[in-house]
Amino acid sequence: MKKHIAVLAGDGIGPEITNGAIAVLNKIGEKFGHEFDFEQLLMGVCAIEKTGEPLPQYTIDRCLASDSVLLGAVGGAVGDKRIEKLPGHLRPEAGLLKIRSALGLYSNLRPAKLFPALAGACPLRKDIAEKGIDLVVVRELIGGIYFGARGRGTEEGGEYAYDTEKYNVEEVTRIAKIAFELARKRRHHVTSIDKANVLESSRLWREVVHNVAKDYPDVELTDMLVDNTAMQLVKNPSQFDVVLTSNIFGDILSDEAAQITGSIGMLASSSLGATKRGLYEPIHGSAPDIAGKDIANPIATILSAAMMLRDSFDLPEEAKAVENAVNQVLDEGYRTADIMSEGMKQVKGSEMTKLIVERI
Ligand code: IPM
Ligand code: MN
Repeated sequence: MKKHIAVLAGDGIGPEITNGAIAVLNKIGEKFGHEFDFEQLLMGVCAIEKTGEPLPQYTIDRCLASDSVLLGAVGGAVGDKRIEKLPGHLRPEAGLLKIRSALGLYSNLRPAKLFPALAGACPLRKDIAEKGIDLVVVRELIGGIYFGARGRGTEEGGEYAYDTEKYNVEEVTRIAKIAFELARKRRHHVTSIDKANVLESSRLWREVVHNVAKDYPDVELTDMLVDNTAMQLVKNPSQFDVVLTSNIFGDILSDEAAQITGSIGMLASSSLGATKRGLYEPIHGSAPDIAGKDIANPIATILSAAMMLRDSFDLPEEAKAVENAVNQVLDEGYRTADIMSEGMKQVKGSEMTKLIVERI
């Protein structure tokens, strides 16, 4: 198989961690007889510095011509005045929103699970952690308040600003189907998150999800209000299998879900739309404070590459080979700084990549 992969390394630790994933994909290619080639493209602060825009049209065009996209992380250091004074549409984050929408990536999967070897890192009480965490947040990614009408104006009291949460039946239907299909491959349970006690958009969300559920009688559906969900995630996370959410609720809850596993440097994600071309990225950010020091954990990006193999290229065996190699390295006691604990062997980011490559 021959595949062309667009690489948006981005900012901060982005280049180091995407290099890790590229090394792993090259090894997979060698071992299983595939040819992967990589095209590096600009997005984020690095793109703003070179072109004045966070996402140049050239990057969009080349991503559309690729078989799939690997993303590192975008975003500059907090307090970077050059970036913070930019208007909203020229900030690095705007580039991320634009690539999602340009590629039609409406479905964002963010799995959060407790790796057995890292169970000690879970910040929750032991009796809660022992029940396990293995959930996937299915986040709608190109609708809702992120893309709704927004603006500013003046009224009698002074200046005002607004953003709009809007969903139509089609948008909710397609993401709900993704969640129910995924639940069929897992533990057959969907929790749909909304704020239907207050928001009209949530009442429509709930109606549509219940309609879709009729086609999945084998999947159990639970409605949960978003505030309660925030609480349940720390109180009893083992109750969740597939968590179906809008764009903004998914943004917030997926950070919480990642944090309770205690190892955000391990968590991968995928974004897909109507085609097989997806965008794969680690859940964590660009961590500018540790960039260039070779201490960043490449595992989340390497596991994102494994998701690409499985979900975009239909190569489940190859994906499994990557995941097994990661588990093996952890079982052998190797740890990057972020997941280090007593008695383990601390390694640099590039060493971690090398150890994983050797075990494929
Ligand atoms: C994420 C990020 C982005 C989002 C930002 C950087 C635009 O927080 O991927 O969760 O809010 O979607
Ligand atoms: Mn976020």
